[in-house]
Amino acid sequence: MSAPNKSYDPVEVEALKPEEIARMRDEALAAIAAAGDLEALREVKVGHTGDRSPLALANREIGALPPHAKADAGKRVGQARGQVNQALKARQEELEAERDARVLVEEAVDVTLPYDRIPAGARHPITTLSERIEDVFVAMGYEVAEGPEVEAEWFNFDALNFPPDHPAREMQDTFFVRGARSGEGDEGDEGGGSSGLVLRTHTSPVQIRSMIDREPPIYVVCPGRTFRTDELDATHTPVFHQVELLAVDEGLTMADLKGTLDHMVRALFGEGMSTRLRPNFFPFTEPSAEMDMLCYVCRGESVGNPDRPCRTCSSEGWIELGGCGMVNPRVLVACGVDPEKYSGFAFGFGIERMLMFRHNVEDMRDMVEGDVRFTRPFGMEI
Ligand code: DAH
Repeated sequence: MSAPNKSYDPVEVEALKPEEIARMRDEALAAIAAAGDLEALREVKVGHTGDRSPLALANREIGALPPHAKADAGKRVGQARGQVNQALKARQEELEAERDARVLVEEAVDVTLPYDRIPAGARHPITTLSERIEDVFVAMGYEVAEGPEVEAEWFNFDALNFPPDHPAREMQDTFFVRGARSGEGDEGDEGGGSSGLVLRTHTSPVQIRSMIDREPPIYVVCPGRTFRTDELDATHTPVFHQVELLAVDEGLTMADLKGTLDHMVRALFGEGMSTRLRPNFFPFTEPSAEMDMLCYVCRGESVGNPDRPCRTCSSEGWIELGGCGMVNPRVLVACGVDPEKYSGFAFGFGIERMLMFRHNVEDMRDMVEGDVRFTRPFGMEI
C-alpha cells in the first residue's frame, strides 16, 4: 500500500478549484433568482442540489483527496452548498408568498354580490283561483274529476244532447282535429270532423265521463282548459279555463242547485253574497238558466244610485257568472243513469272572467302571456 500522497493539492482536482466551486455556486444562485414560479424553482433545485448536480459531484471528489486537503475543500463545497440551499429557501418563500397573494385576488369571492339573481316566480292566478274553487267543493264532499283536452266529438256534443249539425256545434267555434285516416281530399280538408275529435269547447264533457265512470250518487268538480277559435285580444282568448260542477243523486232539485251556488259565492266572495237565475237554453240542461252573482263590490247598491256608480258591475248590481240547470234526462240516459230514479244539477263558468272582475284585470292578454310582472303581485300562495 503506498503512503498517502502528501503533496496532493486539492486545487489540482478540477471540480474542486475555488473558482470552479464559485462558478457552480453562482450559476445555481443565478438560476434560483431567475426561477419565475414554484414549478421552475423545483427544477432548479433538482439541477443544482440533486445527486447529479455539479456541487454534489464535486462533493464526491473530496473523498479522493489527501486528509489534509479534505477539510479545506469540504469547507469550500459546504459553504457553496449552504449558500445555494439558503437562496433556494428564500426564493421558495418569496414565490409562495407571491402565489398566495395572486390566489387571494384571483379566487376572491365577493360576498357583497346579490345572491338571488334568479328571482322566484309566482303561481299563476288562474291556477290558484281554480284550486280555491275546487277546495270549496272538496270541503262539501265533491271529488275532483278531469278529462282530456283533445276530446271525442261524442263526449263534447252528442252525449250532451247537441243534435247532429246543430248550429250550437258551430256556435261554440270549435277547433276540429283533422283525421289522420281521412284519405283523399286530405289537403283541402278543413277538418270537417273526420277524425271525430275536437279540442274540447267546454268542460261539460267531463260530466259525461264522470257519469259513465261512476255509479250515482255522483258529486264532481271539473276544472280544466278549454278551446275556441277566437282571436286573442283584450276580451277573448282561444285557450281559457272553466270549472264545471255536476251532482247526480236521488231527489235533487233546482233548490239544491241554487243553495250550492249561493254557498260557492259566499265562500269565494264573502258573507252576504247570493246568486240569481235567469231562464236560458242549453241542450244538456232542462230547465236551464244563466247564473248571476251579486256584485261583491257595491252589493247592488249602485243600481239606480248615480251618486255611487260601480265599475265592477257597470251599476247593474249583478255580475254574470255562467250557465247552469237540471241535467237533461236525455243526457242521463246517454250515460246509463236512470232518470226515473235520479236527477242532477250542473253548472259551468269561466275562470278568466271571474279573475277579471275579482282582481280588476282589464286585458285578457295579461293572463296568457306568463309575464311574472303580472303574476307576482298575486303572491306566492299555494
Ligand atoms: N258548457 C257551457 C258553456 O261552456 C256552460 C254550462 C252551461 C255548463 C250550463 C253547465 C250547464 O254545466 O249546466 O257555455
